[in-house]
Amino acid sequence: MSPLHVTRTLPEDATGAALRADVRHGLTVTPKTLPPKWFYDALGSELFERITDLPEYYPTRAEREILVARSGEIAAASRARTLVELGSGSSEKTRYLIDALTSLEAYVPVDVSESALTQAGQALIAERPGLDVHALIADFTAPLELPRTPGPRLVAFLGGTIGNLLPAERAKFLALVRSMLAPGDGLLLGTDLVKDERVLVRAYDDAAGVTAAFNKNVLAVVNRELGADFEPEAFDHVAVWDREQEWIEMRLRSRTAQTVKVPALDLAVDFAAGEEMRTEVSAKFRRDGIAAELAATGLELTHWWTDAEDRFALSLSVVR
Ligand code: SAH
Ligand code: TRP
Repeated sequence: MSPLHVTRTLPEDATGAALRADVRHGLTVTPKTLPPKWFYDALGSELFERITDLPEYYPTRAEREILVARSGEIAAASRARTLVELGSGSSEKTRYLIDALTSLEAYVPVDVSESALTQAGQALIAERPGLDVHALIADFTAPLELPRTPGPRLVAFLGGTIGNLLPAERAKFLALVRSMLAPGDGLLLGTDLVKDERVLVRAYDDAAGVTAAFNKNVLAVVNRELGADFEPEAFDHVAVWDREQEWIEMRLRSRTAQTVKVPALDLAVDFAAGEEMRTEVSAKFRRDGIAAELAATGLELTHWWTDAEDRFALSLSVVR
């Protein structure tokens, strides 16, 4: 069995300059925001895995359904020898692809969550001896240095995570992806689709409160890393559908007027009663829109697969 290779391009703890800059900026602008990549510490990754099992959270099941049905077609179209997966998390659904890609030699999962990466990586090398697994602890919104592995390369970005980027971030991200691809390489992209508002809101505000706990976990991360004194119980989880932007917006609403101290930033932040802070968006897509965004970065959408209920899409694009 080949060993798991792990490369870190992020600082050892999350107290890096990036977290401090993000939190300082986010808590001093109006309206306040906290950026989503800080959701995924070990507990955050665990809570996300629980979200994927919730009855209301359909995206994981819908995407898995497509992968089960279409991995053979995806493999035939890509013939990849290297699979790079951005925001790989548990790599659970990726197994269908790995099994179908008969020429696959290397798998490069990329994630900010070290705990998710090493767990998934260990499991994969045990299950797939001979596969070269090279885990990268890195931020996919910044240029990546990928290990030298054989082409063709398939870059997978699953889970609808692209929807968690704001439009300008998305354009920048797609340009980065484009720069990872040579002729003959491909991008496999998972996008959640626009649908009934009630179905969408329920997926991000479940009855058991797991999504609420996940959303509030970002406060625990800021407390731990920057010594802040956020009281998670003093905030309510809010999920609203923005029909103009076609995204779900996750917020934390302050129950009372309160002041939160962030010693590492020498900051005291006032919240008014009912004040809402944005923590995450989850954009939903239509085929024409995403095809146009891909085309604008030099990628051509060649395949589009959906689940039986048209809730979620996987698309394959190639360099034009
Ligand atoms: N692909 C998995 C997990 C999706 S959750 C699935 O489909 O179920 C989003 C994943 O992206 C998490 O594992 C999170 O840790 C990771 N992530 C979020 N922002 C990131 C960033 N900027 N750079 C790298 N990984 C990121
Ligand atoms: N990529 C997931 C999505 O947009 C992430 C996610 C699911 C999420 N539920 C969440 C992020 C709740 C923040 C809060 O569907």
